[in-house]
Amino acid sequence: MVRGGDGGRPRVFVARIIPDDGLGPVVEACDAQVWQYELPPPRDELLRAVEGCDGILTLLTDRVDDELLERAGPQLKVVSNFAVGYDNIDVPACTRRGIPVGNTPGVLTETTADLAWALLMAAARRVAEGDRFVRAGRWRTWGPMLLMGPDVHGGTLGIVGFGRIGQAVARRAMGFGMTILYYDTHRADRAVERELGATFVPLDGLLSSSDFVSLHVNLTAETRHLMNAQRLRSMRRTAVLVNTSRGPVVDQRALFEALRDGAIGAAALDVTDPEPIAADDPLLTLDTCLVVPHIASASWATRGRMAAMAAANLLAGLRGERLPTPVNPEVYD
Ligand code: DGY
Repeated sequence: MVRGGDGGRPRVFVARIIPDDGLGPVVEACDAQVWQYELPPPRDELLRAVEGCDGILTLLTDRVDDELLERAGPQLKVVSNFAVGYDNIDVPACTRRGIPVGNTPGVLTETTADLAWALLMAAARRVAEGDRFVRAGRWRTWGPMLLMGPDVHGGTLGIVGFGRIGQAVARRAMGFGMTILYYDTHRADRAVERELGATFVPLDGLLSSSDFVSLHVNLTAETRHLMNAQRLRSMRRTAVLVNTSRGPVVDQRALFEALRDGAIGAAALDVTDPEPIAADDPLLTLDTCLVVPHIASASWATRGRMAAMAAANLLAGLRGERLPTPVNPEVYD
């Protein structure tokens, strides 16, 4: 731990080293304890660290719930999450105590869409598998039947969750001449549909008609295991599933079985359930499954912007000002 300043300044706990764009202003303005290690603070250390804090800067690996808020104490003014997703935070528990919660929307939209696109392309065209093939010394000649996969261009893309990131993925698909379907609980503006050439369809229709399905929903009670065995098996046998949302949106056991049985073609995951995925998870035995370690927002520029935004939320909360991006604006009512 690093203790950043003197006793007169607000006390904050920062749950990991984040880029200087955010860490700098926090350490300058606060008496900051910064968790210095690669792994998140174990629960008991986290609970100890937040005691008496005025603000907490958390990551998606840190659970913020009643227990933690109690341990922090009644002086806690703000919880700032270094992520757009905030399923690690019991927001109603914060709201009940009048504590605003901040997140980092917008700044990671394009970067996350870039990775969703990279995963889609890589899974379709078997990039990771090809690399393993070469490194294993198995490339003996040009093969007319070697490592074939579906064309991406001209295919049908189904986007589940048509918010900022889903729409950014649609924009990329336009450049590939794809038919774009989307499903969301709310239909988008007709102007957005027209601009992106996207058609609103029921989820079941989307799954059975798409060559590629990309998930962009928040994790909620409704979206947990949204992609269950029955839905996975309603996809095309050659379809590619891409998940850059949250791991539990997909029933991972059912995904393994669908891939193993050839019920779908391939999957590419930035997120798993749990994270990290166990090294002996059966999914990792399949060449048709590509997994990367939750890196969708991991560009230098974007992580810097996320850090700056998380710091801005934290500092505004400490000053008693409205957070630039609160997830529970009702605390101000
Ligand atoms: C988020 O922000 O929610 C991502 O999953 C990590 O950047």
